Amino acid sequence: MPIDQTEKDVTLTYAGSSVKVLLHGANILSWKVNGAEKLFLSEGAILDGSKAVRGGVPLVFPVFGKATSGPTATLPQHGFARLSTWEFLGQTTESPLAVQFGLGPENVSEELRSAWPYNFTLIYTVSLGEDTLETSLSISNPGDVAWDFQTLLHTYFYIPDVDKVAVTGLTGTEVKDKVTKTDYSESNEDVTIAAEVDRVYENVPKPVTIKSDGKTLFEITRKNLDDVVVWNPWTNCVKMGDFKPVTGYKNMICVEAGSVSKWTSLAPGETYVAVETVKAYL
Ligand code: BG6
Repeated sequence: MPIDQTEKDVTLTYAGSSVKVLLHGANILSWKVNGAEKLFLSEGAILDGSKAVRGGVPLVFPVFGKATSGPTATLPQHGFARLSTWEFLGQTTESPLAVQFGLGPENVSEELRSAWPYNFTLIYTVSLGEDTLETSLSISNPGDVAWDFQTLLHTYFYIPDVDKVAVTGLTGTEVKDKVTKTDYSESNEDVTIAAEVDRVYENVPKPVTIKSDGKTLFEITRKNLDDVVVWNPWTNCVKMGDFKPVTGYKNMICVEAGSVSKWTSLAPGETYVAVETVKAYL
């Protein structure tokens, strides 16, 4: 069956590829192309809905990180979309194979609702091609007051060896470096990882590529997701109880397409559609 639905998740299979989406967080857990896994999912990831999933593609909305002031300040880090159970809305197209998930205030816990009491509709479309995964998040304001948001697709890519990985397409963009607590312009053609990295690259104009040993693994294109976050916790992953094995940081890199360096205001009746397309090579 091209679509296999259980109480907890939905799996799509198409042209030798597959994608599995957990209803909790609408978190993609696995994306396989010709049987090869393309995403990193921690062996310690908690999938029972009690916590955000450590790996795959968690969805960040309506705040990236932790706000220190403003209407999202009382929300937990990265907001509530990844902490809520989404509804499966069904299939939209056959080729590529696409399905949708929805989240509204009625799906969010009382506690999180009272922390951010706005009206919203999120529709998440997951579209599986032969070697592509397109994820599109439509964010609407059906209420009668405007609100501001940030959003991001927190993709954990599986990589064979962090020592050989390079991210390209970031040269010349402004960086907010959360590890060194400095701002600068990226001078490197190849952004490599040899220690903890946690950076927000702002207004990245071009597609971003993840390479291993000079060969392209992934190409990421974005629409309405101007910023790119690059994160690898390195050995600090031991501080995260759900990050397993502790050597797992060698096999992952988060390259996260987002709109996070500014706030976007959504007036009543408005919709914002953010799209990421990842093509897998090799
Ligand atoms: C990244 C942030 O997007 O997510 C990091 O830039 C953060 O600062 C990381 O540590 C993981 O966040 P969390 O809440 O899933 O542990």
